[in-house]
Amino acid sequence: MTHQLTLRTPDDWHLHLRDGAMLRAVLPYSAAHFARAIIMPNLVPPVVTGADAVAYRDRILSARPAGSDFTPLMTLYLTEETDAGDVAAAHASGLITAVKLYPAGATTNSASGVADFSRVQDVLERMAEIGLPLCVHGEVTDSDIDIFDREAVFIDRVLDPLRTRVPGLKVVMEHITTSQGVDYVKAHDKDLAATITTHHLVINRNHILAGGIRPHYYCLPVAKREEHRLALRAAATSGDARFFLGTDSAPHTDPAKLQPCGCAGCFTAPNTMAILAHVFNEDGALEWLESFTSLNGPAFYGLPPNEGTITLLKEAQDMLMPTHIKTEDGPVTIFDPGFTPGWHVSDVSFG
Ligand code: NCD
Ligand code: ZN
Repeated sequence: MTHQLTLRTPDDWHLHLRDGAMLRAVLPYSAAHFARAIIMPNLVPPVVTGADAVAYRDRILSARPAGSDFTPLMTLYLTEETDAGDVAAAHASGLITAVKLYPAGATTNSASGVADFSRVQDVLERMAEIGLPLCVHGEVTDSDIDIFDREAVFIDRVLDPLRTRVPGLKVVMEHITTSQGVDYVKAHDKDLAATITTHHLVINRNHILAGGIRPHYYCLPVAKREEHRLALRAAATSGDARFFLGTDSAPHTDPAKLQPCGCAGCFTAPNTMAILAHVFNEDGALEWLESFTSLNGPAFYGLPPNEGTITLLKEAQDMLMPTHIKTEDGPVTIFDPGFTPGWHVSDVSFG
């Protein structure tokens, strides 16, 4: 039997588009399904100033496929040298939608991130004043903290004190992976939300490590125990407006992933919508898919939802999904959810 589902066109509230040949190769997959995306600034070198963001936005706009109106929502990479005036000007001109906080050393290209939080207090206060959200990579980096505990410890030691020091700052906890993340968001009604990725709804840490190591499932924050995946599933499929989709689609070439010290990141942009339809259907929650992908994010950011629609079809026969894309830098493996979603995107309009 065929099922059909039509939603407002979705947005992606956490996306890595990279630069150069990789940008040209991956952007069409996001632009095919998503109207807007929050663009991560962790390039080499990072997108630190308003001038960097203008240049990067222009490179993204020129890499769009013909006819695409895909809107990159730009972010600045917070460093201890970030100038509050530059951030405020970039916000006032409409150039940026958020600022991104990477604790120094937490993930890919985060070396210029923040180590001493007292040095960013003035920027954070200015952001609270002007209503500019802070997107947070929520992991501590201390070598004595187990990697599976780094998100929960971050909430207690860094995030909660930071939110107390800067009242009114809008914070997005990005790509949460734990029940502690879910609970922390649920305990606060104002100025706090979280993105959840596609892959963290599907895999737990056994998928990475049991029966052989699977580098394509390795990302940061790393997937946790099954009980945490279930907490994420419950949050995402509940319709709670504080949770929305940020794919964290993070392409790396296969040679960069498949080496003794491989890169972190899952490339999910091409099949995210099909996988999410499968997941929400499995949980009897298709009625909440649109909130998660298309309504909750814009509401938090104070933007209108998209006017267009996306239609997903579930065919009687499963459709085979592509496993790789080719780029000039080498092949990139598309996230394999371990099942064939019966769903596929049949039509998208951008209003
Ligand atoms: C991201 C990347 O590759 O840029 N990797 C990842 O595992 N998610 C960085 C990030 O968002 O942590
Ligand atoms: Zn990311």
